[in-house]
Amino acid sequence: MNIIECKNLTKEYLSGENVVKAVDDVTVSFRQGEFCAITGPSGSGKSTFLHVLSSLENPTSGNVYYGEKSLSSYNDNQLSILRRRRFGFVFQAYNLVQELTGYENILLPVMLDNKKPDEEYLNKVIDMLGIRDRLGHLPSALSGGQQQRIAIARALSNRPAILFADEPTGNLDGKSGREVLSLLKYVSKQLGVTLILVTHDLHVAEQAERILTIEDGKIVKDTRPAASV
Ligand SMILES: Nc1ncnc2c1ncn2[C@@H]1O[C@H](COP(=O)(O)OP(=O)(O)OP(=O)(O)O)[C@@H](O)[C@H]1O
Ligand SMILES: [Mg+2]
Repeated sequence: MNIIECKNLTKEYLSGENVVKAVDDVTVSFRQGEFCAITGPSGSGKSTFLHVLSSLENPTSGNVYYGEKSLSSYNDNQLSILRRRRFGFVFQAYNLVQELTGYENILLPVMLDNKKPDEEYLNKVIDMLGIRDRLGHLPSALSGGQQQRIAIARALSNRPAILFADEPTGNLDGKSGREVLSLLKYVSKQLGVTLILVTHDLHVAEQAERILTIEDGKIVKDTRPAASV
C-alpha cells in the first residue's frame, strides 16, 4: 500500500531573472513502512523535494497525495495538523529548544497537540534510542549524537506514519553518524514508520531498501539494492 505519493510535482524558485526548477515534474510513490534514501549531488533538489512532499513548502504545480487524498484540498491549518500528527521531521541541525530538557523536547509535539502523553509508548521509544539517562539534561550538556537521538524521539512522539529526515547524520562524526543511522532504521522498522531520508552520502544511502537518485530536480534512478530485497 502506498502511504504518500506525488504526481508531476514541480517547485520553481526565482533567482534574479532566472527560474530555477528545484523539483522538476516528479512522479513517485512510497510504500507504507519502507526505508527510502534520496541521494544526489549538492543543489540537485533533494531538500526541496522533501519539503514539498512533506508540505513544509507549497509546490508550484503538481500534487501530493497522502493516503490517496490530495493535499491541495487542505488549507494551511489542516496541513499543519497533518504534519503534527502524521509526519515526523529530523534535520541535520537537531533543532532542539535549548531551554528545555531532553524529555521536555521529546514531549513538545504532544503538548502542542494538547494530548496526554502515551507514557508506555514514549518509554519504548526512549529505551530503543538509549537516551533514558539523558532525559533531564539540557541540549547544551549533550553530545551531537545524543541530541540527534532526542530529536528522533521528539519526531516519533506523536506516532507519525512517516519520518522525513534531511541529512540527519550530516553534523556527526563517522561513528556517531553510523549509530544514529542504525537507530533510525531500527526504530522505524520496529514501529512500522515509513522513513524517507535525504543524504548526499552514498554509504548512508546504501543502508536503505530503496535509493532514489535526483539530478537537476528529476529522479534519474530508482533502485532497490539486492541485499535488502
Ligand atoms: N528558497 C530558495 N530560493 C531560491 N532558490 C532556492 C531556494 N531553495 C533552494 N533553491 C535552489 O534550488 C536548487 C535545489 O536546492 P536544494 O537545497 O533542494 O538542493 P540539495 O540537493 O538539498 O542540496 P544540498 O545537498 O547542498 O543540501 C538549488 O539550485 C538551490 O539554489
Ligand atoms: Mg539539502
